[in-house]
Amino acid sequence: MNFLELAALRSSVRNFQPRVVEKEKLLYVLEAARIAPSAANFQPWHFIVVNDPEIIKSIYQIYHREWFASAPTIIVAIGDHEKGWRRAKDGKDFTDIDVAIAVDHLTLAAAEVGLGTCWVCNFDPEKCYNIFNMPENFEPIALIPIGYPEDTSKAIKQRKPLDQLVTWNRF
Ligand SMILES: Cc1cc2nc3c(=O)[nH]c(=O)nc-3n(C[C@H](O)[C@H](O)[C@H](O)COP(=O)(O)O)c2cc1C
Repeated sequence: MNFLELAALRSSVRNFQPRVVEKEKLLYVLEAARIAPSAANFQPWHFIVVNDPEIIKSIYQIYHREWFASAPTIIVAIGDHEKGWRRAKDGKDFTDIDVAIAVDHLTLAAAEVGLGTCWVCNFDPEKCYNIFNMPENFEPIALIPIGYPEDTSKAIKQRKPLDQLVTWNRF
């Protein structure tokens, strides 16, 4: 499978088999996140791997969807704003970007080993802080349910064509 095939294979999965995800596979996708690039190589990220069914039940309060709570594992991708690189000129904080790159590595690695994932950002951050007793400099950026997909039929990706996205040389 080449890279474009892998990128096309990954799509949002919102239905999971109850099957437990093997620890080796979780370590594999976490390793893919670990080796991601980050601004100034500051690696301002942290991941909580939740596979305790009781905690997954409580995560349902953070993002109220049946399909979400049916995932056997949820990875909470966190940005550490004390560790993120800030651009000197304007103070822009690159933590979110760094975490997004790491999460993208993770979701692609998951697709490679037959696991489904879905980015979830439309959750309640305050409840997330409370449930995990998260330090203030940590920001939960995305919740990633991960598991074996129930339905492996492939949806056709609706994407804008390249000529609407790309400008060569200048506007
Ligand atoms: C930053 C980000 C946040 C997202 N948040 C949610 C979400 O809260 N809930 C959800 O069901 N899907 C969420 N998605 C999934 C998108 O809807 C999905 O990636 C998009 O429709 C393209 O479909 P595909 O992932 O199957 O290619 C999110 C995706 C991204 C990249």
